[in-house]
Amino acid sequence: MELIEREQQIRLGRTHSEEDKALIGAGGYLSPVEHLWTDVLIAISLKKPVLLKGPTGAGKTKLAETVSQFFSQPVQSINCSVDLDAEALLGFKTIVLKDGMNEISFVEGPVIEAMKKGHILYIDEINMAKSETLPILHSVLDYRRMLTNPFTGEVIHAHPDFSVIAAINEGYIGTTPMNEALKNRFVSFSVPYISGDHLRKLWKELFPAAPKELHALMLNLANDLMEQVKQGLLSEEAASIRSLLYATELAQYMEPLRAINYAIAEKLEDEQEKKLVLELAASWIK
Ligand SMILES: Nc1ncnc2c1ncn2[C@@H]1O[C@H](COP(=O)(O)OP(=O)(O)O)[C@@H](O)[C@H]1O
Ligand SMILES: [Mg+2]
Repeated sequence: MELIEREQQIRLGRTHSEEDKALIGAGGYLSPVEHLWTDVLIAISLKKPVLLKGPTGAGKTKLAETVSQFFSQPVQSINCSVDLDAEALLGFKTIVLKDGMNEISFVEGPVIEAMKKGHILYIDEINMAKSETLPILHSVLDYRRMLTNPFTGEVIHAHPDFSVIAAINEGYIGTTPMNEALKNRFVSFSVPYISGDHLRKLWKELFPAAPKELHALMLNLANDLMEQVKQGLLSEEAASIRSLLYATELAQYMEPLRAINYAIAEKLEDEQEKKLVLELAASWIK
């Protein structure tokens, strides 16, 4: 894909400070469908803000980190909460001592730093933020790619590489539906849990030394969990890849059923669901 390669060449040609290099992601995302990964790269190459929608532990953060690695581009992260305010996004004024005099200086926040340095801005759980906070970003996210810093009056035009990736878990407790004007500025991708052969491949990569039986157990259980989620008998997070990963890690050192209990079943609210997970797991253990 010429567009992606061209953009990658440009970004690989940039130099970063040692401090910023530490913000480059490790990579490792496996795309559940081939074109999800390339389509995200196309959107990023075209400087379109990317919105990743998916349940917890689906690899949204991993996908953003892998984009960072692909472009060798540092990531500035923001975790949204109801407390998120303009200062957390843009930065704040502080008093510094310069030549024996007190002076007011502005400490740049993640948005401004990412815009100036051409980093990726990763906005996690964007629908957790209060709806009045994010409109500050409207001019950053649309074709203007600029911002007037309300604290200093400075007009900032984004570096050509500057990219935005946001993540949401729609319908999750504590979230509000995303404001239309904000959502409208994004290109939006559904990020499902990986399954089947992709999951097998990921487990091979992550647990090369684990016994075959453990691989088989976890992959079979993953299949069952996803099936039960589809049937509406389990809540979506029961099939979280993150939880399956934790269960596999624990199971290398304890009985798999206990590992599955701690990492998956115990985290579900509903007693029936807990029981179902353990029954499914037990059915694969000889
Ligand atoms: N498609 C995937 N490819 C690689 N790793 C994945 C994938 N999906 C989930 N994971 C792994 O599961 C864990 C949770 O992923 P994460 O990106 O933190 O999820 P999210 O941000 O969607 O909640 C991580 O350890 C991640 O490596
Ligand atoms: Mg995440």
